[in-house]
Amino acid sequence: MFGVYVHAPWCRIHCPYCAFFVDTRAEVPHEEWLAGIRRDWARERPHFPGPPRTLAFGGGTPSRLLAAHVAALVAEVQPEGEVSLEANPEDIDAGTLAAWSRAGVDRLTIGVQSFVPAVARRLGRAHTARQAEAAVELAMESGLRSVGIDLIFGAEGQALADLEEDLDLAVALGVDHVSLYGLSIEEGTDYARRGRRPADDDTWREMYDLGVARLHDAGLIRYEVSNFARAGHRSAHNETYWRGGRWMGLGPSAHGWRPDNARVANPADWAAWASGAAPSVETPAPEALLRELLWSTLRHIDGVELATTRALTGIEVRLPATLRDAGLLRAAGGAILLERDGFPLADALAEALWAASTDAAAEPGAYSRLLAGS
Ligand SMILES: C[S@@+](CC[C@H](N)C(=O)[O-])C[C@H]1O[C@@H](n2cnc3c(N)ncnc32)[C@H](O)[C@@H]1O
Ligand code: SF4
Repeated sequence: MFGVYVHAPWCRIHCPYCAFFVDTRAEVPHEEWLAGIRRDWARERPHFPGPPRTLAFGGGTPSRLLAAHVAALVAEVQPEGEVSLEANPEDIDAGTLAAWSRAGVDRLTIGVQSFVPAVARRLGRAHTARQAEAAVELAMESGLRSVGIDLIFGAEGQALADLEEDLDLAVALGVDHVSLYGLSIEEGTDYARRGRRPADDDTWREMYDLGVARLHDAGLIRYEVSNFARAGHRSAHNETYWRGGRWMGLGPSAHGWRPDNARVANPADWAAWASGAAPSVETPAPEALLRELLWSTLRHIDGVELATTRALTGIEVRLPATLRDAGLLRAAGGAILLERDGFPLADALAEALWAASTDAAAEPGAYSRLLAGS
């Protein structure tokens, strides 16, 4: 079983913090895009036995796709389960919701980022805060099986009270899923060029802890460092990534991981991709594969499964006693899992596990920094 990811790069504007591969041309070349997706699908399908489990339209802004193209791809891919689509608030109305639902979409993720007008404006969003709230309301009434939102915290000028307002409104609107991302300053973005800095560690931690507590009280339970769901509303597609499963990536910049272990990366360039330039196909060395697996699986509440990881990489993952004794990680049921205080440090802990389990030398001071931060 595997997932299928379809990348729709189209965006109205390029948000100043975003490093995803996006294309802001006014006229979307819909037919050319669809032809390229079909070509990628035909190339990848023979590498993946059995039926796909999930189909995810991500971006960019998949809510700018023609609903007829979404429907056509759902019909061609025929996933057994979840069909998800990321939507920007300004694209949501009763008509688009009904069209996506008819196309087979059963899960919508709305990129709200913040309901607070000043924060949304600072993030350079193309929609107003009121538009975001109305979009979520409409989606909740639409009958789609799952409706989730993305929120950002740690933006410049965003106070704890602003985040509180976002969380309260998310809860009041009754969404099934929240992705709560700390703003990262990504290379090549407008924010990086302007020298913007991420929130300092204490602010980040205060905001993250507030998010976890508020969402938990409302029945939205953390199942991955940044993801919270009501029972039965986890993202099945994203769980494929976090549980070490296989997926194919269709579209410009999309990545995949074939069952034969090859990693496939499509060109992150519209002209090259559209003209059929070959993807890069590489089978990572065991150490590199282990690093990727640790970074993805440790973030999930079910943690790093030792037997599966050993079978895939031939490497035994070692849990350093210092990290266990510091209450950051534990071993249980054949897995290594994050402790409560380990969640905010997940990426650094994955790197520490990797260094402890391979011949790679740990970055000097990495452990002491981790322990000091706990
Ligand atoms: C690939 S984007 C697509 C979402 C959709 N186009 C939108 O903007 O609403 C998925 C999510 O990634 C998050 N994201 C993008 N850049 C980020 C950054 N630099 N730091 C934290 N989160 C980010 C945002 O929450 C966004 O909703
Ligand atoms: S955040 Fe969404 S709308 Fe903004 S540039 Fe990134 S993908 Fe496009």
